[in-house]
Amino acid sequence: MKILAIETSCDDTCIAIIEVKELQKKTSFTILSNVVHTQLIHNQYGGVFPAMAKREHIKNINSVYEHAMNEAKNPNIDIIAVTVGPGLEPALWVGITFAEELAKKWSIPIIPVNHMEGHILSIFPNKTNRFSIDKNKKIFPLLSLLVSGGHTEIILIKKWQEYTLIGQTRDDAAGEAFDKVARMLGLPYPGGPEISRLAQAERKNSAVRSLESTVARARGIFQQKNTRGSQSTISSEVTLPRPMIHSKDYDFSFSGLKTAVLYYIRDHGPLTEKMKSEIAREFEDAAIEVLVSKTVRALQEFKTKTLIIGGGVSANSYLQKVFKKAIKKLDPKVIIHFPTQKLTGDNALMIAIAGYFKYKNKKYSKNPDNIVANGNLSL
Ligand code: KG4
Ligand code: ZN
Repeated sequence: MKILAIETSCDDTCIAIIEVKELQKKTSFTILSNVVHTQLIHNQYGGVFPAMAKREHIKNINSVYEHAMNEAKNPNIDIIAVTVGPGLEPALWVGITFAEELAKKWSIPIIPVNHMEGHILSIFPNKTNRFSIDKNKKIFPLLSLLVSGGHTEIILIKKWQEYTLIGQTRDDAAGEAFDKVARMLGLPYPGGPEISRLAQAERKNSAVRSLESTVARARGIFQQKNTRGSQSTISSEVTLPRPMIHSKDYDFSFSGLKTAVLYYIRDHGPLTEKMKSEIAREFEDAAIEVLVSKTVRALQEFKTKTLIIGGGVSANSYLQKVFKKAIKKLDPKVIIHFPTQKLTGDNALMIAIAGYFKYKNKKYSKNPDNIVANGNLSL
């Protein structure tokens, strides 16, 4: 069966085409095309305006479609999968309307897909154009941490399509905090990769802080004199809070961390390049320590042996390093999965995979009136 998937929930116009075969022991996938067109227009404004994103999707979706169809050699499509939320509603509608036109032309069903489910399933493809999902492998229950520009949540999964949200951010998403702090430092949008680049250079230049100490603090076992609550205890210039690191729940809060950066800049500005790098490193350490600490605790409580990390922020190389090390120390039997670098951000390949499972399990409504954009759709 061939699936065409459309993703337009934020600032990437994406179409992917895959072929899926059910074999005895596994489901086999071939990627025929996977086109991502990133709207660079937002970079100059430091954020995404929904009306502008919508206009750009309308402008680009036809050429993205032509590109994807050509690359896949114009196959006959059996079903269409489209992201219906969460995301920016005006942007989502562009993809939905496009899906509806194609579905009508080809008389085939549309499967509405939750963007976050896509991020969870984005860990399956490897770097080649073929991958498969084993039917008998025991991976459940599994835990997923989704960290993107709009979301920060921990989800317990007993089986596909059965999701329990066990914690989420109470204010800003992790990616949003990276973007806002980058903006305060005068760095371009999207800020995540920029902060990461500065932080990495700062870690190389100064030996004040090691990977070991970040892992130890995330695991709550870092001992040092002058411990001041949840503050960083390293004697570097900048110290930022680790919000909610000791709270018993699995919720997050990143807005206080962002405000702490704002106050630091107000009190210590104008910033030198060195100060900017130190802030980037301390901010990245703080955000990652909280993410790792809560996720590790959830793994222990729910006794899960598989961890999936997805969403734009999962591209962060230091986050990946700290997670791998912390999990290895916690329990070497826990297996951690990240998407390939290319699939950490938004793409339609992950929507195609999610759409296929929804179709196969008949977990979708055949009523076309139910295909509506929902900016706040939850899992
Ligand atoms: O999943 P995604 O592409 O779009 C949403 O659904 O939001 O995530 C985008 C977010 C942005 O906030 C971006 O700054 C962040 O992911 N991001 C990163 C890195 N690469 C992208 N954050 C931290 N470190 C990175 N290397
Ligand atoms: Zn996303």
